[in-house]
Amino acid sequence: MILITGGAGFIGANFVLDWLNVVGEPVVNLDKLTYAGNRDNLASLNNDPRHIFVQGDIGDAALLAELLQTHRPRALLHFAAESHVDRSILGPDAFIRTNIEGTFQLLQAAKAYWSGLPAAEQSAFRFLHVSTDEVYGSLEAHEPPFSETTPYAPNSPYAASKASSDHLVRAYHHTYGLPTLTSNCSNNYGPYQFPEKLIPLMILNALRNKPLPVYGDGLNVRDWLYVGDHCAAIRRVLEAGQPGATYNIGGCNEKTNLDVIHTVCAILDQLRPMADGNHAALIQFIKDRPGHDRRYAIDAAKIERELGWKPRETFETGIRKTVSWYLENSAWVERVLSGDYQNWIQTNYTARP
Ligand code: NAD
Ligand code: DAU
Repeated sequence: MILITGGAGFIGANFVLDWLNVVGEPVVNLDKLTYAGNRDNLASLNNDPRHIFVQGDIGDAALLAELLQTHRPRALLHFAAESHVDRSILGPDAFIRTNIEGTFQLLQAAKAYWSGLPAAEQSAFRFLHVSTDEVYGSLEAHEPPFSETTPYAPNSPYAASKASSDHLVRAYHHTYGLPTLTSNCSNNYGPYQFPEKLIPLMILNALRNKPLPVYGDGLNVRDWLYVGDHCAAIRRVLEAGQPGATYNIGGCNEKTNLDVIHTVCAILDQLRPMADGNHAALIQFIKDRPGHDRRYAIDAAKIERELGWKPRETFETGIRKTVSWYLENSAWVERVLSGDYQNWIQTNYTARP
């Protein structure tokens, strides 16, 4: 079986569902259930014996040792993190604890477990660390996309904490020989994404006739990767990646934020027309994110060349699926929008006129 961390979050939950569907190998899913973790994402697995959910913290060394000894996984896939840049600006502490100290505890536990494995299992074991393109910093319009050899230059507390975790993973391979794999991917979008992130925030605000808050001039560029494509890439990296290597994963979809928002609005105009006017009229420019990275772009040539992976979705197909998913899953949406989410919207947007 495999052990994954953060499997109740956006990408982790998509991965668990995809993995059980495509591979079918049992999964132990360790997740703290922070505001971003959501058991509803995994509701379809409630009676599935291949999914064992454990609520707990990756910083809990005793729990990690017990889980590894009990379940004896052949691989550990690490998705758990504090993942939202704006939250890292307002409160970096949890990012240091989970992304740096938590990853350290996980590496320690994995090393202890792996060292005790028989030789054949030891060489087959993998520790796959899911990271981000934000570790590379920001690109000017004319600069080439990030490759695996681009120097690290993280700009937000979130990016710095992920960069630190990448360095720890690298060191555990280099120093102790732990068979690690690291993937650095671009902005994911798709089903089950918590609506603090750009695309679900825009879809859900537009559906409620609320303003669509655009930071700065809206011309920051991101590369958009459909989450299903990301899951397929991770499966491939786990299957055939070279221990110690890193792989950049991108969607080949560089877009300005305004392009993304106009596309979402145009799809909603078709699927849920307003009585009067169109959704793009809700766009409102607001104060910029401090230290806002201007452009991210990924050169995904290595994973295509070495592992034969490339994205299947274009932005046009992926965004249409995504908007439709939010329209068709109103019960999930209502539950996510209640409670703590409202506090976040108050904190992040009322202070940013
Ligand atoms: P998310 O915020 O939706 O989910 C994170 C999950 O981790 C949640 O279920 C949460 O409960 C869990 N978690 C948080 N702290 C924990 C702890 N201390 N112990 C155990 N579980 C804990 O994040 P996501 O968007 O699914 O991102 C998953 C991973 O992918 C992260 O490592 C993130 O840095 C990386 N990543 C995300 C994107 C993106 O666009 N979303 C892009 C690149 C990389
Ligand atoms: O690049 C990968 C990263 O992508 C991941 O590592 C992070 O976990 C993930 O959150 C994401 O980070 P971003 O900061 O790029 O994503 P976010 O959805 O927060 O913002 C995308 C862009 O949209 C960014 O330029 C900021 C802008 N934005 C965002 C929000 C929430 C707005 O203009 N208005 C908003 O309200």
